Amino acid sequence: MSLKMGSKNPFNDNPPPIFKRIFQLNLYSLIPISLLCLYFNIFSSTPFSPTQLLHSTNIFTYHSSICSSPPSNSSIVKHEDYDYEKSCDYSKGDWVSDMRGPIYNVTTCGTIKESEKCITNGRPDLGYLYWRWKPNECNLPRFEPNTFLKLIKNKHIAFVGDSLARNQLESLLCLLSTTSTPNLVYQNGKDNKFRRWHFPSHNANFSLYWSPFLVHGIEKSNEGNYYNTMFLDLVDERWARDINQLDMIVISIGHWFLLPSIYYENDLVLGSLNCPKLNHTQIDFYGPLRKALRTTLNSIIEKKVAKGKKIDVIVKTFSPSHFEGDWDKAGTCSKTKPYRKEEKVVGGMEGEIRKIEIEEVESAKVKVKKIGAVRFEVLDVTKLALLRPDGHPGPYMNPFPFANGVPKYVQNDCVHWCLPGPIDTWNEIFLEMIKKWK
Ligand SMILES: *[C@@H]1O[C@H](CO)[C@@H](O)[C@H](O)[C@H]1NC(C)=O
Ligand SMILES: *[C@@H]1O[C@H](CO)[C@@H](O)[C@H](O)[C@H]1NC(C)=O
Ligand SMILES: *[C@@H]1O[C@H](CO)[C@@H](O)[C@H](O)[C@H]1NC(C)=O
Ligand SMILES: *[C@@H]1O[C@H](CO)[C@@H](O)[C@H](O)[C@H]1NC(C)=O
Repeated sequence: MSLKMGSKNPFNDNPPPIFKRIFQLNLYSLIPISLLCLYFNIFSSTPFSPTQLLHSTNIFTYHSSICSSPPSNSSIVKHEDYDYEKSCDYSKGDWVSDMRGPIYNVTTCGTIKESEKCITNGRPDLGYLYWRWKPNECNLPRFEPNTFLKLIKNKHIAFVGDSLARNQLESLLCLLSTTSTPNLVYQNGKDNKFRRWHFPSHNANFSLYWSPFLVHGIEKSNEGNYYNTMFLDLVDERWARDINQLDMIVISIGHWFLLPSIYYENDLVLGSLNCPKLNHTQIDFYGPLRKALRTTLNSIIEKKVAKGKKIDVIVKTFSPSHFEGDWDKAGTCSKTKPYRKEEKVVGGMEGEIRKIEIEEVESAKVKVKKIGAVRFEVLDVTKLALLRPDGHPGPYMNPFPFANGVPKYVQNDCVHWCLPGPIDTWNEIFLEMIKKWK
């Protein structure tokens, strides 16, 4: 792998200051612990809070039902004819059992982050690998790497946003690696938050841009402020300056907006979230999240229209976490089966974020209607992700966490997704989306 640095740096950027990744919990540091406390308490002091979600004590019991749908023949797609059944809403459906299992594993994919190698890290139950998403109206075909690669030939695709953007891109690289191996051609930043891979077989590039607010800002950190600083009217140039190189952008935001933050607009403080010492008006994060997304989508339109270039913009909706017990104890996301569709409805905080994301995409679509150079779509994963409490690394973010018995405190990642795992489904839907565009 060749790493181009310095003047050849395609990102034209220095690594951002040393920011701790939000959920990269470090046993030797108390900050992430307080951070997760905040994650749970963040709404308790806010009057407008959709507390029902984060304080949910509802225990949904899994009524074991045998999902015996056999692998459907219609899910086998031939390479050449991208034929589908009628248009289908992939966002609504149910997880049904599927004995085929994933198309890749830790041996065939070299790009899985250590904390997402759940099996290698000793996760004992493997049942979570044997489910497929069954949309109500159709079958979702299994991922077809050759089809995907053909559709993105000579293209540059960027995943922009938070660590779920990274998680999804890593899943996609694993899925594609089953037929073609990518080369890492660039990496930069703490935890390699800026990376690029090249598929020589199809001259396709994938870039990862860390930008958890999408707009300009400074993330909370151990070394700096305990709150985020966001400039809601200024797009984050770390990704936006490269926009003319890009053919497609997949956007992912959410969890960072739940943290204490101070919001600026036109150089004035708009308010802050859970920063009582700063004496600003307390506001919730929904308005700022909407503004950040609007600034982003508008900026893409402006920059692209100015150059007369086309781009496809996909906004992936919020991916809920599943801290369903004490976040620092064994068992917080220890479920081993999905919920059934009727057990969980998208509501509360995740419902509100999803709604904002969909509304902003709809409004961007209206803006470009006459121009036509920018295509906007929503990749709506909220419901299918909500139903998968069993898909997170949990304690298996670390190798063999219970090798010496159950410790008093256990680090748990109930935000990101094991690879392979349910996040692979996001990319199956992504593929169906771009197949339809053809
Ligand atoms: C699925 O395909 C197999 C082999 O082509 C065939 O024998 C079987 O009848 C098909 N099943 C359905 C439900 O179409
Ligand atoms: C991974 O998949 C390959 C190819 O299917 C298989 O040969 C190998 O045994 C698998 N490895 C593990 C660790 O499951
Ligand atoms: C992908 O990146 C390589 C350099 O790593 C470059 O030569 C190629 O032109 C790029 N292709 C696209 C489609 O961006
Ligand atoms: C906030 O207000 C209190 C009381 O008016 C004052 O003592 C304190 O200095 C203020 N803090 C800041 C950061 O302005």
